[in-house]
Amino acid sequence: MASTWLTWLCEHIDPIEVFSAYTKLRRVGRRWVGLCPLHPERTPSFYVFPETNSFFCFGCHRGGDVFRFLQTAENLDFPGVLRLLQERWKLPPPPGEPTTDRDRQVAALIQALDRAHRFYRQALHTEAAAEARAYLEGRGVPETAWEAYGLGYAPPDGQALYDHFRQADVPTWVIAQCGLFIERDGRWFDLLRNRIVFPIHDPAGRVVALAGRALEEGVPKYLNSPETPVFRKSQTLFGLRWAAPAVRQRRAVVLVEGYFDAVLMALHGWPHTVALMGTALTADHVRWIQRHADRVWVGFDADESGQKAAWEALHELVGGGFAPSFLRWTGGKDPAEVLGRAGPPALERAFVEAMDGWDFALFYLMTRHAGVSPDEWPTLRRDDARWERSAAAVIQDRQALQALFQLLARVPHQSGRYYAALQIARRLGLEPPAQLYADFLRWLHRKSSRESRVSGPSWTSPTWTPEGTSLPFYEKGILRGLVERPDLFERLMARVGEAILEVARSHRLLRFLYDAWYAGRTVDWPLLLEVFSEPPENLWVHDLLRDETPWDERVFTEAVELLHIVYFRRLRNELARRRERLDPDVARQVYELTRELMDLERASGLHRLGSSPS
Ligand code: UTP
Ligand code: MN
Repeated sequence: MASTWLTWLCEHIDPIEVFSAYTKLRRVGRRWVGLCPLHPERTPSFYVFPETNSFFCFGCHRGGDVFRFLQTAENLDFPGVLRLLQERWKLPPPPGEPTTDRDRQVAALIQALDRAHRFYRQALHTEAAAEARAYLEGRGVPETAWEAYGLGYAPPDGQALYDHFRQADVPTWVIAQCGLFIERDGRWFDLLRNRIVFPIHDPAGRVVALAGRALEEGVPKYLNSPETPVFRKSQTLFGLRWAAPAVRQRRAVVLVEGYFDAVLMALHGWPHTVALMGTALTADHVRWIQRHADRVWVGFDADESGQKAAWEALHELVGGGFAPSFLRWTGGKDPAEVLGRAGPPALERAFVEAMDGWDFALFYLMTRHAGVSPDEWPTLRRDDARWERSAAAVIQDRQALQALFQLLARVPHQSGRYYAALQIARRLGLEPPAQLYADFLRWLHRKSSRESRVSGPSWTSPTWTPEGTSLPFYEKGILRGLVERPDLFERLMARVGEAILEVARSHRLLRFLYDAWYAGRTVDWPLLLEVFSEPPENLWVHDLLRDETPWDERVFTEAVELLHIVYFRRLRNELARRRERLDPDVARQVYELTRELMDLERASGLHRLGSSPS
């Protein structure tokens, strides 16, 4: 399928243009290179190969064609990708009807949901909907907003949508699968009855589910149509249809729990608000956010379950490289209540008084392990004695400390974790602040040695660091250069990607130096000794400090070439070893890599050396 589609696709759109919408690409020879849009990184390892219209990331090892890319990047199925291409890149409709059974199924379900959505929107303007209209007005959603947010009304009789579908000759299998009906004694009834209807869109803008808010008491407050082949709660967020442009424009997103919260926030000047649909924030959600925003505000309900969800969301967000802020609603448990009771200024205040992730984490742990009441947030200050006592309680509680370390472990990059640990330590009043990081490393070390006994190295996070304690000569050359001449990083990074650093035995040191360089900080030997106080890194740092052998830039350049080759060899070997299980896209990358490796080896004269470092 992919190849004929691909040919057709490439006649109509420029794949470089598609990839460029996700990352800034720069041409390097026959390739294009940029930061990988599929995982967080700060130096480019994402390669686009125009001849084959494919991509490969040396950091996360994902690859494939433009379709595969869009499927991954936007969490879409095949028809979803087509729809996206049509909307955003003006791709003409594909020739012919959907070709596979699955495509036909998806198309029919989408059509049914769209039909139902239109039916419910119209129903909101019928006589029977008087109470629903009054309800919406009463909750602060005026008639002028209904169409913009796609709001509707499900009539109470339980057959309204069913009759409508029957009149339109919708097949029974669609009725059974679209999630909008329930069967009882061989008869079908509408799922939503006497409810306000909210549409749920996928990232491509298709209605994939409908949700309903009850008007009467004694029934579940919200009903969502169930997960179907077109609807995965963990892969979409409520409100994307109108919030996505605002999120992209502001590079910021506000996450709330409720449908009304999202709509009301949008109405009052926070159009970049989306809601989770009764699920936790997932890695898929975070990937969507990464592509569209830099800043995240978490505004979950102020009750216990909301705060627990916020604590869990913090982990996902921190893991995605975000420094999220947390909103604490007061005068109501969620934005809808706050607005109803105190109006927009109270929401504004929540943004002004937002806490950052580490404060939120500490406060949350204090409520769990130090007897602090959740209501104390606005009054508990870092400089008062109660904070100090609670901080001490958190540090002395094994569970709390472990929870803190687990959170810290989610921070990407060594130096990120180091600076996070320093910040947390200062807020806890620990002296010296670096001690917390040392404790964290020890914990991590114990944990990873426990885990490595259980599971082998995984392919998704390659651990190529060889056993042994001595440092290869070329790594010494690189490390010495980088500490003494940070400007050499420019040259290193022009030659190798961030991912390549990971194959070095001294990858933790390199990563730390790299992060510091990237952040514009200087690193000297004493700092290295302070941060890396344990073997083997501390031994290497001592060795390097004492190293008297002559060093010049040529040594550095050669060392970089060697590291580069070591990387390509390992990657090629690793891929080749798994070739039998690979799809053709990856097999092609193995071939590309082999060619590239040969070029490199020829250029460096290494192919003549036979057994060189690997
Ligand atoms: P809440 O119970 O906080 O609802 O659930 P809410 O949004 O504050 O309700 P309103 O403001 O009184 O209308 C938050 C979200 O959890 C999901 C819905 O997505 C809801 O918006 N939920 C809640 C359900 O799916 N089913 C339920 O019965 C309740
Ligand atoms: Mn709520």
